[in-house]
Amino acid sequence: MTATDPEIDLRAAARAAQARVAHSDVIPPRDRRRDVARPPGPRPLATLRGLTSASAPEFLASIERDYQPMAHTRLGREHAYILTAPSAIVDVFIGHGRQTMKGRGLQGAKAILGNGLLTSEGDVHLRNRRLVQPAFHRDRIASYSQDMVRLAELHSKGWHAGAEVDMQADMSALTLAIVGTTLFGADLSGEAREIGQSLERLLHGMGSRLFLGPAALRIKTPARQRGLEAISRIDAIVQRVIDDHRAAGDTGDMLSMLIAAEDEGDVFDDAQVRDEAMTLILAGHETTAMTLTWTWLLLSRNPAAAEWVHAELDEVLAGRAPTMADMASLPRTRAIIAESIRLYPPAWIQGRRLLDDVEVDGWTMPAGTLVLASQYALHRSPRWWESSQSFRPQRWLNGDGTFSEDAPGQPRGAWFPFGWGNRRCIGEQFAWTEATLVLATLAQEWQPELAPGAVVTPRPAVTLRTHNGVPMALKRR
Ligand code: HEM
Repeated sequence: MTATDPEIDLRAAARAAQARVAHSDVIPPRDRRRDVARPPGPRPLATLRGLTSASAPEFLASIERDYQPMAHTRLGREHAYILTAPSAIVDVFIGHGRQTMKGRGLQGAKAILGNGLLTSEGDVHLRNRRLVQPAFHRDRIASYSQDMVRLAELHSKGWHAGAEVDMQADMSALTLAIVGTTLFGADLSGEAREIGQSLERLLHGMGSRLFLGPAALRIKTPARQRGLEAISRIDAIVQRVIDDHRAAGDTGDMLSMLIAAEDEGDVFDDAQVRDEAMTLILAGHETTAMTLTWTWLLLSRNPAAAEWVHAELDEVLAGRAPTMADMASLPRTRAIIAESIRLYPPAWIQGRRLLDDVEVDGWTMPAGTLVLASQYALHRSPRWWESSQSFRPQRWLNGDGTFSEDAPGQPRGAWFPFGWGNRRCIGEQFAWTEATLVLATLAQEWQPELAPGAVVTPRPAVTLRTHNGVPMALKRR
């Protein structure tokens, strides 16, 4: 598809994106204070280069090494603090969470997600969260788990020994099918390719530019053009899902709930249903897809760990399909997922803007300040993790062999793959269940191997992806 495709009106797409960005009922304050002392940190140009480069996660890891408990820098004309100590992160993101709003990245992402759960603020966010929460209740996840396994089994049937797949695209198609079926009662398998390609183009076009905030939308470049085009394509698919649902009537799933809320008049309008659906489709599949992609790569590079988890699957499942009830009996499978998320956190950086002055470790951060914390930097810090750069899933098991997120003994604030407080990931349990059961289903039968000579490098976009996919040869165990 090209920028001149007659179906896509780029001007209308730009107007719609701008309108979504502009819509906010929290006005961000600006930090113009000259009378506060600021901690040392990198020069603004180094920060801009660092954060928009392909090695942004490593840049943040170097800040963590060089500056504790935080570094002061600038993003354009704005003051920014990069938090590097777990205690400072807990203090700001949990202690003062309600005195913050989302930072530039997610403000920019409003162009795509509008006022959905991930990007809305204040009362609108609270209302959204209350409305969507029932879809993530434990009982609902238990019922989704059956579809998760069924779709993983179907996926396995489509794999052929000896074939080569791009694992990144492959896992995205699977997780998209899962989120479509479980939350929207929609079969998105026909659209998986189109959504995948559009998302790739979108993240490529706009990914790191999101650090520039909403201003990025106004800069007319081919990347923006590609991004807008991709948004329009995904939008059309989401709209079709909503229209089909309206035609079908209440089917009892989450989208029916959102549409019912719309019908009640003042709660949700058309645009809000679209924003919510878009958010859950994108946030609900891309992160888990990347988790599974990195997991397959890590297992292929660490045959001893693969053998370790295979032994568990063979003993506990002995060839049958896993169920939600098996989760507690699969500590090694969960440990593999946790270790993959530690080394390659799909959400690798998190940002906020302070709504009030906040004091942390003796430093005053004025209202309006941007604050950043990086999962990638903290999850790999040798201060808190033994053999921090190595893939050691065993660290997640207690002495009695059970899985626990506290088992490694890291302090609070050094592990936050799903964020914090009132903005913590609503899909956390969904993601754990999905990643564990999909891995358990597929790894019972398959042991994909990285294609010979393939070089995989991380590409930091909104999520931590890979540069050119992950070519893997499918091999039966
Ligand atoms: C491994 C998988 C996942 C990771 C690492 C992840 C990570 C995160 C993080 C870090 C946040 C907080 C962002 C911030 O505070 O700025 C978040 C929020 C969110 N996530 Fe996830 N997520 C995952 C899976 C999912 C799934 C499966 C869904 C839905 C099915 C989902 C839906 C959301 C939504 C809607 C929010 C916004 C919540 C709010 O602000 O109230 N995520 N996620």
